[in-house]
Formats: sequence, structure tokens, C-alpha cells
Amino acid sequence: DKARTVSQDSKKQQLDPYRQEKEGHYMTTDQGLRINHTDDSLKAGSRGPTIMEDFHFREKMTHFDHENIPERVVHARGSGAHGYFQAYDDSMKKYTKAKFLTDPNTKTPVFVRFSTVVGSRGSADTVRDVRGFATKFYTEEGNYDLVGNNMPVFFIQDANKFADLVHSIKPDPDNEMPQASAAHDTFWDFASLMPEINHMIMWVLSDRALPRSFRMMDGFGVHTFRFINEEGKARFVKFHWRSTLGAHSLVWDEAQKLAGKDPDWLRRDLWEAIDSGNYPEFELSVQIVEEEDEFKFDFDLLDATKIIPEELVPRKPIGKMVLNRNPDNFFAETEQVAFHPGNLVPGIDVTNDPLLQGRLFSYLDTQINRFSSANFAEVPINRPLAPVHNNQEAGFMRQTINKGKANYWPNSIGGGCPMMAPENQGAFVHYMEKVEGHKIRARSQSFNDHYSQATLFWNSMTEVEQKHIVEAAHFELGKVESKEIRQRMVGHFSKIDMNFAKMVAAGVGVEVHENFDQESTGHYEDNEASKQMKNGKS
Ligand code: HEM
Repeated sequence: DKARTVSQDSKKQQLDPYRQEKEGHYMTTDQGLRINHTDDSLKAGSRGPTIMEDFHFREKMTHFDHENIPERVVHARGSGAHGYFQAYDDSMKKYTKAKFLTDPNTKTPVFVRFSTVVGSRGSADTVRDVRGFATKFYTEEGNYDLVGNNMPVFFIQDANKFADLVHSIKPDPDNEMPQASAAHDTFWDFASLMPEINHMIMWVLSDRALPRSFRMMDGFGVHTFRFINEEGKARFVKFHWRSTLGAHSLVWDEAQKLAGKDPDWLRRDLWEAIDSGNYPEFELSVQIVEEEDEFKFDFDLLDATKIIPEELVPRKPIGKMVLNRNPDNFFAETEQVAFHPGNLVPGIDVTNDPLLQGRLFSYLDTQINRFSSANFAEVPINRPLAPVHNNQEAGFMRQTINKGKANYWPNSIGGGCPMMAPENQGAFVHYMEKVEGHKIRARSQSFNDHYSQATLFWNSMTEVEQKHIVEAAHFELGKVESKEIRQRMVGHFSKIDMNFAKMVAAGVGVEVHENFDQESTGHYEDNEASKQMKNGKS
């Protein structure tokens, strides 16, 4: 196949033919016909009705009528930027064959989209929420997407709870209130019945949920992924982005005022910083765990509600990302970019984390809904720099004009596509993990500790940070009408830290009871499958 080399500017050059200056051109129809007048429709007499013949009006109106596509079902509001990633050296060669992480001479183009999670496209930037931090690396081996967040853990452990989580936190189904706020009964009802959420709740109540700037925010891959090196040896890996400016937050009062005075606060800050040459930078680092150490922790590496404490596995910095160019067109680039945790390159693979496994299905599925077409990978912002050859030639809005009769494999009539690449010519080969077990709809008992890391988080906070968490709980939980829900939530807090629970309880009109039992939430009754697992069948 043709040489596959990318440079910092490769993506810009690929996008160049699609860019268009408007200035200095005659206006035309979509067919290129020059227009002499666009202020009035074609009428039968200057005061008469508009006539069907008016192709210019019909085309202009129709295009406008179809200008909206569905917003993302989560992470609807976001801001994007172009840039590049460069590895510091080749030290990662020992761990991964992913070239963009091991070749210090390549600047791999990237597109990053930062987002809020809950609010709609027009919602305010500074609400209390998780922030998305999604990076598309246009590598010479294909697009690699690191679709992360600004918090290292997640709300739930299994993808089958995602629809429930999002339904509970999105506006209520009857009256579509409240917008973009966790301060409502449905979310806290769900949270109080799902003890696995507790670690994430602590992050969401903390100042991390109020970033002062997208430039001053860390990012996390959250799940445990896998690195595979040239020899085929695999290791577990967690990804971290660290802002070189440090992580900074707003205080709640600022966040609330900005939501009214400048709902575009984070978007504007990113845009203006890049526009003025003040380029945001993020360092990528990794925590690597040997396969034989998989079970040496007191939590499960496959559990996305857990971090690997850095005291146990330090981070190794491996390279830097610089965001140095604003998009030209919000819709074409930021809105149409489509990330997917299953966009992998040789040297990086997934694990059996049951949350990640579900994401591997969800993103492609939702994007086919969002774009009404399976051809969205042909949209300029999504196009890989690596050449694309396969037999997927048709479908809505197909752009590529594939030649030849054979659009199937195998074929013997020639001219067909594709050839199969061997692994040593850059083919992705799934890591041959041995998998065995009974078919079972249940969760591993090793996912059952929902409090220790929440406590670790609370203990790691300074006094001021703890005060902010308590105040956030007063505000968010204080809005919950149901006393039963407030009571249950404070019960969980008592298992994280009794003093914390007492401080929250004092502000939300409930009392703390000793010995709160997580099983009292009802959710933790074992189903038959779990009982069987406890009895040794797994
Ligand atoms: C966006 C599903 C968990 C980070 C999305 C979208 C869906 C989705 C459907 C909209 C995508 C689009 O329309 O293009 C899920 C499911 C999850 C899950 C089913 C769990 C089962 C996570 C986790 C993270 C994450 C754990 C972080 C590690 C993101 C980000 C975006 C996103 C950053 C926005 C991407 C963009 O900027 O376009 N997710 N998600 N999600 N998700 Fe998830």
C-alpha cells in the first residue's frame, strides 16, 4: 500500500480543498447558477402570491428547514480545536507498537472536543457537570479515539445501566425540567439506589465539576485499556491528560453568575486563547500494570468506578498535545466530529470492562441515528489520513466513487478490494485473551466495594475543598423534595465519612443513622445468577 506518513499539517491539508472563502464570489444556487436577487421571492405581481416556479426560494427554504441534525444524546454541548500530539521519546516502544506514541519525530494531527454531559446544545457552560475530553488522533495507521472525561471514574459499572443513568439525570419526562442540573429528585433517587455511584458522586460534588477553563482541566481515559508491543506482550494501561496550566475551578457563586452573564464562558475562553496564540497544552501519561499483576489490587481493574492510586502505580509522562487552531466552521467540524472508543490502532486494545464493552456498541449506533447515514466517516473532519479501502460503497450521501465490479470478498474476477494485510504490515489483530465462563447476567463480586475509594477521595481533599463538597451537597440534595431520598443519600455518605454525612445532613433536613445498610436500598438483592456466582460458578 502507499506510504502512510502524517505530519502536523496533514489534516489541515486534507481539509483545505473542502474549505471555502465566501468573500469576492457571486452568490449561486446549489447547482452553481448565479443569482441576481435573493431578497424577494418570485411573485405573480409585486403584491401577488409566490409561485411554485421559484426554484431559488424553494432550494434556500428547504436547506434551512433541514439545517438541524439530532444533537448528541449526551455531551450535546461542546467546543472543538485542532492541534497535534508528539511523543517525548521512544520509551513506550517497550509497551506498545502504536507508532504515534513511540515516534518522537512525528507530530500526529488531533481534533479535540470538550463538552458538558447533561445539557442540551444551547445550555450554559459553567453548570455542575462532568466534562467530556475526546481526542481524535489522525495517525498513519488509522484514527485512534481517546474518548475520555475530566474525572477518572464513572457513575456506573455496567453499560446496561447507562440508559437508566441518563434518563435520571436528563430533564424529567413529563415537563422537561430542570435543564442541565443534578438538583432534582430523579437523579438523586437513582443515585441513592445505586451504591456503585458513590465514588463518582464525590467527584461531581467537588470543584472538579466546575472547571474554570477547558485549558485548565485534566482528562482521563477512565477504563483500563491494553497496550500490546511488537512481541505481542500485553499490559494494562490507564490514560491521563494533565493540563500544563494545572487544573483550576470556578467557585459556585462565579459558576452561577457566569451561567447567566456569559453562558459561553468555556467556549469563549478556548476560542480566544487559541485565537491569540495562547495554545492550550496537555501532557499524556500512562499507568502501566503487568498482566500478572491483574489481581494484586483490592479493587478490580475492570471496574470503571475505581482509580489505580498513583502511590501504587505511578504515571509515566509520554508526550504532549498542543491545540493551536480553531475550527473554521462549527457545524462542519465540531458538530460533525464523531468519536468512538472502538476506533483503535495496532498496539492499543480494549479490556472486558463491562462499561467499555457497552460503549463499543453505543457510539456507532447513535452516530448512525445522528447522521442518518452509515457514511459519516467520509465527512471531512472524520476522514482518516490513512487510506480507506473496503467494499462498503453505498448508502445515503456516499462521497467516494469506487471503481470496479467486485464489491465483495472473496472474488476471482479481479479489480476487487481489499487485499488482507498481515500483522507485520500494520493489520490490527485483536489481542488473543483467553475467555471462558458460564453465560450469566450478573456482576462480579470483585466490583462490590463502593465506598473505600470515595473515602480516599474525601480524605485527599483540603479543608476548603471539603467545605465546597458539603455546600454542593446542600445545594443539590437540598432541592430534592423526597425526604426518603435525602435520607438514603446521607446514609451512603455515612459509609464514606461519618463527619461528612453529619455536615450534609444538617443542611438538608435529615438525620444520620449509624450502621446504614447499603442492602436496604433494595437494589443489592442478589439475583439467581449472582447467587450461583457466589457459590463458585463464574
Ligand atoms: C458521547 C454513550 C460512557 C465520554 C457519548 C454519546 C453516546 C455515549 C451515545 C454521543 C455520541 C455521539 O452522538 O457522537 C456512552 C455509553 C457509556 C458512556 C453507552 C457507558 C456505557 C462514557 C464514559 C466516558 C464517556 C465512561 C468517559 C470515559 C464521552 C464523551 C462524549 C460521549 C467525551 C462526547 C464525544 C464528543 O465530543 O463528540 N457517549 N457513553 N462516555 N461520551 Fe459516552
